[in-house]
Parts: sequence; C-alpha cells; structure tokens
Amino acid sequence: MKKLMILLAVLMLPYYGLVAGEGMWIPMLLKQLNEKEMKAMGMRITAEDIYSVNQSSLKDAIVLFGRGCTGEIVSDQGLMLTNHHCGYGQIQQHSSLENDYLTNGFWAMSREEELPNPGLTVTMMKKMEEVTAQVLEGVNDDMSMKERGEKISENSKALIEAAEKESGYQVAIKDFFIDNQYYMIYNEIYKDIRLVGAPPSNIGKFGGDTDNWMWPRHTGDFSVFRIYVGPDGKPAEYSADNVPFKPDYHLPISLNGAKEGDFTFVFGYPARTSEYLPSYAINLIAEVTNPPKIKLRETRLDIFSKYANADPKVRIQYASKHAGVGNYWKKMIGESKGIRRMHGIERKQDFEKEFMSWAKLENNNYQGLIPAFEQSYSELEKYNMAADYVREAGLGVELLSFAARFRSLSEVDKETADDKLQKLITSAQNAGESFFKDYHQPIDEEVAVALIAIYHAEQPVDFRPEFLNEIDNKYKGNTKKYVQQLFGKSIFTSEEAVSKLLQNFSYKDAKKILRDPAFEAYSSIHSFFDQKLRQPMQQLMAQNDSLQRLYMLAQMQMQPEKRFYPDANFSLRVTYGNVDGYHPADAVYYNYYTTLDGIMEKEDPNIYDYVVEDKLKTLYKNQDFGPYSNEQGEMPVAFVASNHTTGGNSGSPILNADGQMIGINFDRCWEGTMSDLMYDPAMSRNISVDIRYVLFIMDKFAGASHLIDEMTVIK
Ligand code: ARG
Ligand code: ASP
Repeated sequence: MKKLMILLAVLMLPYYGLVAGEGMWIPMLLKQLNEKEMKAMGMRITAEDIYSVNQSSLKDAIVLFGRGCTGEIVSDQGLMLTNHHCGYGQIQQHSSLENDYLTNGFWAMSREEELPNPGLTVTMMKKMEEVTAQVLEGVNDDMSMKERGEKISENSKALIEAAEKESGYQVAIKDFFIDNQYYMIYNEIYKDIRLVGAPPSNIGKFGGDTDNWMWPRHTGDFSVFRIYVGPDGKPAEYSADNVPFKPDYHLPISLNGAKEGDFTFVFGYPARTSEYLPSYAINLIAEVTNPPKIKLRETRLDIFSKYANADPKVRIQYASKHAGVGNYWKKMIGESKGIRRMHGIERKQDFEKEFMSWAKLENNNYQGLIPAFEQSYSELEKYNMAADYVREAGLGVELLSFAARFRSLSEVDKETADDKLQKLITSAQNAGESFFKDYHQPIDEEVAVALIAIYHAEQPVDFRPEFLNEIDNKYKGNTKKYVQQLFGKSIFTSEEAVSKLLQNFSYKDAKKILRDPAFEAYSSIHSFFDQKLRQPMQQLMAQNDSLQRLYMLAQMQMQPEKRFYPDANFSLRVTYGNVDGYHPADAVYYNYYTTLDGIMEKEDPNIYDYVVEDKLKTLYKNQDFGPYSNEQGEMPVAFVASNHTTGGNSGSPILNADGQMIGINFDRCWEGTMSDLMYDPAMSRNISVDIRYVLFIMDKFAGASHLIDEMTVIK
C-alpha cells in the first residue's frame, strides 16, 4: 500500500492540483487524459475497452435510468440493475394493500410476470463528438450576453436537426467547462422497461433516513429491471409482443470483491457539481444560504417525526415526504461542515490572490473578474435568501403549496373553453386525491406556525410577501392566531369542501378560490416572487454565468499543465479511485467494508428502519451464504472507495481493474459531501452495495436464482 502511494505521488507530480479519486472524466477523452494514470493505479483494461465507437465496449452497458439515476445491463437479455431508491416510484406504483411490493419485495419468476412501467425510459449514449467550433460559429467577444446566447441556440438547433436526420438518434448538445466547450451527444431511448425484482424495503432501504449519507452502511439498495424492444430489435412503446433487448455489451460480474487499495471506477451519469466557483459563491452556499435552509427543514422534520412516532398511519403518510425533506437537509449539513473543515473559503481566497497576481502579470482582461464576482454575489445574496424562504418556508407549508395547484383554475373566466376548464378541473381533482391521501392537518398546522414565525422573524419587512405583514397589522404579530384562522377558514384543508368546489365548477366559482385565505397567502408569495425576485435574479445569474465562463477559461490558461475535468452536467462520465477506509474524526477510523454481522448489530424490531426479517436472520444463523461470502467467510454488504461521485451516480456500477462489476453505487459518506464544491481525498468516499450481497439476496433470500443464471458471473 505504502509503495503504491509513493508510486502514485510520483506519478501525480506532472498533474499538480489534482488528487487520486478526484474528477469526473469524459469517456471519449480517457485515452488521452487518464489511461496512463488509471493503469498506474492498477487498471488492467484499456480506455478503448471502456469507451469505443468502433467496437462494443463497457459504455454499451450503461444507461441513464429515468431522468435522475444510472442503470447497467448485466445480461444478454437486457436485464438491468439500479438502486432500490431509484426504482422506488415504480415499485410503489405497483404496490397495493394486497400486493405490497414496497414492504414485501417483488420477484417476477417468469418473463410474463415482469411489470411494465409506462413513462419510464432508459437512455443509452451511442456516441459523442466535440462541436465547439460549430456551436460558436459567428459568436464574438463584442456580442452582448443575450446576442451570444441567441446565436449559440440558433447554431445548436441547426446542428441537432441535421444530426438527428442523418443518424436517426435523439441528439443533444451539452456545454462543458461552463460554456467553453460543446459536445454533441447521440442517444437511443428505450421505452418499454419492466420491473423484474426488488427486495423488501427493510433490505432495500435498511437504515432508512437514519443511516442516509452515512457510513458504516448496511443497505441492500438495488432493484432489477429489464429493457424490452420491438420484435425488430428497435426501441418501442410497451407491447405484449415486445422482446428482451439484446445489448452490444453486458457487464460481467465478479464474486471476488475488492480489497483495501484496489483500483475501482464508477461509470454513470453525475448530475451537477460546481468545482470552479469563486470564494464568494462558496461562502454564499456554505455559510449564508445552507444554514437557514437547514434550520427550516429541521423544524419540519422534527414535527413530522413527533407525529409519525405516535401513529403508524401517519408514519406511512409522511415517509416519502420525510425522505424528500431529509435527504438534502442532511446533505447540506455535511456540505457546510466539510467546507469549514477544509477551510474551503480560505483555500479559494488564496487561489484568487494567486490568480490576481497572474492576471496582473499577464496584463489581460481577467483582472476585473474577482471584484466583479464579489459585487455580483453580494447583490445576489438577498435575492437567493428571499427565494429560499419562498421555497423552504412559504411553500414548506403543505396547505399553501396545495392551494398553489388551483392557480390556473382561479384564472378562468367566461372566455375559457369548456374542454380546457374540464382539463383543469380533472387535474385539480387528481391533485386533491393525492394530497389528501397523505395529509395530516395537525402536522401541517404545527409546521405552519413554526415556519411562518421563522419566515416573519428572519426576512426584512420591505422584502417579503405581503401576508407576513398582515400578521403584524391584523394579528399584532401573533403568528399562531394567524395560522389558526388560516386553517380554520380555508377550504383547502377539507377533502369534502374541495370536491364540492370542483363538482360542477364554473368560471363563477373562481372567486371562491381567490377569496380563500390559503390561496391569498400563496398568491402573495407568488406575486412577491414574480415582482421582486424573478427578473433581478435572472439577470444576476446570467451575469454570473458569463463571469464564470471567463473565470473557467482563465483558470485553464493560468494552469496549462493541470488536467481539468468539467463539472458534472448529466452526461456519461468515468471517475476512478481506490477502495479505502477513512478517519471521519480524531482517533476514529472506519473500515472500508460492512457485513451481515452489522445488520444483526443494528437490528431492532421496534425501530422501523432497523427491522430484520426472520428469513434473513435464519440465513445468518446458519451462515448460509452460498458462493457469495468473502475469504473470511463473512457476508459482505457494502464498501467505500474514493471515487468522485454525486447525485445521479446512484445506480452506477462500480467496477474492478478488469472492468468487472463488483457493486452498485448508491450514496456518499457524510463527511465528504462537500465534494460537489470541493473534493477531499481524505474524506470523500462513495458508498456501494457489494454485488455479492445483491446476488445473495436474489438467490438465497428471494429464490430468484434464474436471474443470476442469465448473468455472466466470474468466480
Ligand atoms: N442520499 C442518497 C442520494 O442522495 C440516497 C437517498 C435515498 N435514501 C434515503 N434514505 N432517503 O440520493
Ligand atoms: N444518493 C445519490 C443519488 O441518488 C448519490 C450521491 O449523491 O452520492 O444519486
């Protein structure tokens, strides 16, 4: 290990500024930029094996799952793996009280039992090409921001049209390095995707929100799908006549696991990162906007939990809301802490000093950038805060965000066509149905009192929605009184009243919406956003984008010997690193893998997140692990490595030096979550479920060994 580190240190010298593990690289540039280093770190395959346009390669097995996750094909019959939390919506959709697949799991024992999911797609990248020169044709430095933007979209549109016609693929152009480079991406989109299997939630979501973003972790976060195509082998909408997709490549699976120090890489679709921001932006995120958002979310979560712990029905109603609010609540805490621990703002400031001296020396146009950032971020602060309060405090009250769904209906009049009105009514009815199914008014009322009080206290009188000022005028500042009348008088708290309103709704009823106190409060939030925030924010953000574009370019010119990687932008990327434990705090060390023993340690039949089923307990008691145990005879569950991942990488395969799949990525360690802004090799770790645990659950727990028979398993 030590030898390896020294070797690495030496190898890394010419690439100053980057550390092993950092970076999300463009697959088509791996050969040029990364292959040498990847091989030095232990990789035994070539860049061409990972990405090739001439022959089948690993990339042919990787897909964008839905719109926000990654999936990978693991058989020549189009069998695909992703995370349980990525397939959650589909699993839930097929669940009912009689067939509660979320709770009990689901396994199709034959192709006929696989369940279609209308609306779900997977997207496969066929190839990519750089088109910077074509996109920027006719663009020059004298153009205004607006002119520049218009020219770029005009060029892009023409290029896309031509490429789609010629190739038959769906084509997109994405910007890289903050509008400095452009790539054309050719995609094939598959539309018949069927659910094949999912473990019960107490495996797929073991540890729940308590363990979310945390290591050590014991979650079997996987689900199984299959891609179907028309009989001609081409993508097609669902049809009973469709057949399993035959991919150009499917990932082989290794049962050998990975050991400390081993080379690994993750291949998938990271969504968004911002690694090249100035210190002012880092300060705004980590110190200014995260803290109030954290506080507001915490307030909601505490109230949710109080009620959920007292009533199992409420727990189910608020489970998904809790997960949604809790996920980024926890992420923001980790991110701000991480930036502080890394002295992230100071680091950026030091760099900016260097940058200024360089700019001065080179006597170029870049000298004004840092002061311009200072100015624009200080202006942006007040707007960002106000917008955060709108989203997190105002619309954090369920009643107000539900009232918002009636906006279009409130605007109808005599002229509104019948069919349009009918559509609006139906959509409001649907909104009502799903709202009331999971609505518990006492929670929302308590949330409203708490959030509105914070909103009222924290935002300046002259820069907040009108309804907050009403609390001073009409209620002498008594938020509770205001909320009581709000909930007492609004029809939007009552399913009956809402359905009565929608029955035989005519344009004359629009005023019933307009006069409703919840709708009035929502309206005042909406007009505040519309009149005071939208336009200046758009302008400041556009200005920042254009500064950021120049700053990116300047950073690359200042450090010509540094290898830069573009921020994540939902395009296919490769990140690589080593299996590696870490020190989360002084005197504490976390080992790199967890086992079934840890599940039994956490087991608690009284805590929802830590229930373990008898069947799993029996397998554990008998140590009945089949061929899936590790060399020590343990059943491995999850492991960490230093791959630089982010949201969207969920479901991505983690592969070994031979390009064989050893796990499915699903999360990051809390201490390293500032990696979206700044990667720390000591703390940034991606978390994967070990593929041996996945196969063990399929085979030994669920009896679905027919799925494993389809795969290429290497022992
Ligand atoms: N933190 C992970 C990600 O950002 C997993 C989220 C789903 N799991 C959960 N317990 N809420 O997507
Ligand atoms: N859990 C994230 C996802 O769902 C992955 C991450 O942020 O590391 O994409």
